[in-house]
Amino acid sequence: MRIDVVSIFPSYFDGLTLSLLGKARDAGILDLHVHDLREWTHDRHRTVDDTPYGGGAGMVMKPEPWGEALDALAPAEGMADPRPTIIFPSPAGELFTQRTARELATREHLVFGCGRYEGIDERVFDYAATRGEVRLISLGDYVLNGGEVAVMAMIEAIGRLIPGVVGNPESLVEESHEDGLLEYPSYTKPSVWRDRPVPEVLLSGNHGAIAAWRREQQLERTRARRPDLLAGE
Ligand code: ADE
Repeated sequence: MRIDVVSIFPSYFDGLTLSLLGKARDAGILDLHVHDLREWTHDRHRTVDDTPYGGGAGMVMKPEPWGEALDALAPAEGMADPRPTIIFPSPAGELFTQRTARELATREHLVFGCGRYEGIDERVFDYAATRGEVRLISLGDYVLNGGEVAVMAMIEAIGRLIPGVVGNPESLVEESHEDGLLEYPSYTKPSVWRDRPVPEVLLSGNHGAIAAWRREQQLERTRARRPDLLAGE
């Protein structure tokens, strides 16, 4: 998979050289490129924002640098095969979930455009739609200062689903959200720690009983912490 990220703070993404995603990049499974939006400015101050038409607080990201970035990373129809999925993180977007991550992990080319300030000139989204499938995606119902942290989270959630990134694919199956429930609790040695024993059933060697206990724990936790997940069933 190829991923391009456009940001005015490219060093935010230095963390993606670490851990599993760093290894996936070294192995050539994940082809990740981070670009500074200011590379596509032409004035002395490398300006990326301006005051909003109609007035109001804050600054809006200018369309011109974004247009050039999209021309470079998502060339016109016929030149790029396949068309990329172009993602703009936004608190006004659709909610990012494990389902979104699974869907995006099947794509060959993702382009992430990180907005700052009060947002990006709306015409940029319209133009981007001529270059690929545009998605506005929110990390959750809260406001961040910009899209960078949201994109980091999305790339990690998507990247670990690409075949070969997580060494043991079985570890992806029994996680929170993969089956619509929260994960069951895990324990390791010692069997008693600071007066706290590991649940008996896990030491029993009875695989059926263990599976049933884990399922019950998943349901109990989901009921207690995230009843909304069960209501959606
Ligand atoms: N940018 C600012 N807030 C955001 C959020 N909640 N999700 C995605 N991008 C954002």
